[in-house]
Amino acid sequence: MTISPTGATPEYEQYLRRLPKVELHCHVEGTLRPGTVVELAAKHGIALPTTQVDEVYRYSTIYEFLEIYRTVNSTVIDREDFARIAYETLQDGVELGNLKYREMFFNPTLHTARGIPMATVIDGLIEGAKAAETDFGVRCAFIADVYRQDPPPVARQMVEEVLAHRRPELIGLGMDAAEAPDPPEKFVEAYRVAKAAGLRLTSHCAEDGPAANVTTCLDLLGCERLDHGYHILEDPAVVARCRDEGVTFTVCPTSTAVVYGWPDLTTHPITKMIDAGLRVMLNSDDPTMFHTDIGTEYAKFCGQNNFRPELVRQLVVQGVEAAWLDDIDKAAMRRAFETEIDELDREYVS
Ligand code: ADE
Ligand code: ZN
Repeated sequence: MTISPTGATPEYEQYLRRLPKVELHCHVEGTLRPGTVVELAAKHGIALPTTQVDEVYRYSTIYEFLEIYRTVNSTVIDREDFARIAYETLQDGVELGNLKYREMFFNPTLHTARGIPMATVIDGLIEGAKAAETDFGVRCAFIADVYRQDPPPVARQMVEEVLAHRRPELIGLGMDAAEAPDPPEKFVEAYRVAKAAGLRLTSHCAEDGPAANVTTCLDLLGCERLDHGYHILEDPAVVARCRDEGVTFTVCPTSTAVVYGWPDLTTHPITKMIDAGLRVMLNSDDPTMFHTDIGTEYAKFCGQNNFRPELVRQLVVQGVEAAWLDDIDKAAMRRAFETEIDELDREYVS
C-alpha cells in the first residue's frame, strides 16, 4: 500500500507505530499496567483507592500524579514484582511501538523508603529486563533517579547505595519529581559522586522550572543530555547554546500535554524546539499513567504535525545517537534501524 503522509491517516499512523524505536525517557514506576496494580495489591493485601482498572490512573496536576505514582508503586514489593513490571513494560513497548532499546528510569528511594532492599529493586528490574530481551529481543539499561523532594543528603546516600549494588546494566543517574520547588543545584553532591564513579548523567529540567535550570544541569551537574526542557524557549541564548552544542532533549508529548496544559500537539513547545534547531527525540515518560505508549507518541505527535517521513527518521536516529551505548553498538543499531525504515518506506510511502 502506498500513501501520502500529509495527515494522520490510519496508514501513516501504522507506519509511525511500526518504526523501530529507542526510548530514553520512561519511568518504570509510571509503566505499571492497571490490571497488574490491582493484582499486586490483592497479592500483598494492600488497599487501593479503587480496584476499578480504568479508574486507577485519574489525576489533573503533577502533584496528584506523583501521589498516584507513589500509591500504585506501594504494590510492588518483592523481587518477582519488580521483574514483572520491567518485563511487562518492555513487552508493551515492543508490541505497541516496535521498541528496540530503552534506557529506563527508576526511583530507588520510592522503594527503599518503604523498606524494600536496594538489591531487590535493582536485581528484580534487571531480571525482568533480561527475560524481556530473551522473549522479545528488546534491550534495556537502567538509570537511577534522584527524587527531587528528597533532601539532598538522602539523594547522595541513594547514589552511594546504588553504587554499592552496581551492575553493568545500571548506567546512569537522573533526577525527577516536581522541579519548581526543588531546583537542580540542590543535588550537586549526588551528581558529583555519580560522575566520579563513571555513571552517565541526565536530569529532568525546564519542565516546570526556568531555562536557567538547563544551564545549571549542564554546567554544575555535568549532564550529558536533558529530559523535557520546554522552558528553554524562554531564553534564546540558552537555546542557541544547546543547538550549537547538539544537546539532546528527551521530550514527552502526551505527558506534558496532560500535566502542563499543552493539549494541541501542533503548538506544543516540542514543535518549537524542533523549529529552533534543537535535537529532540520522542518518549512516553509514564505510558500507562498517561494512557499512552511509545507507538502512540509517534503516531499522535508526528501524525498531528504532518511530519514528513524524513523528519520522523531524523527523530528516530537522534534517539539512537543519544543512547549511552558504545560507538560500535550504536553504529550497528543505526544501520539496522535505517534498513528497517527503508523497508517501511517502500511499503508505505509513495
Ligand atoms: N516522575 C515521573 N514522571 C515524571 C515527570 N514527567 N516529571 C517529573 N517527575 C516525574
Ligand atoms: Zn519523566
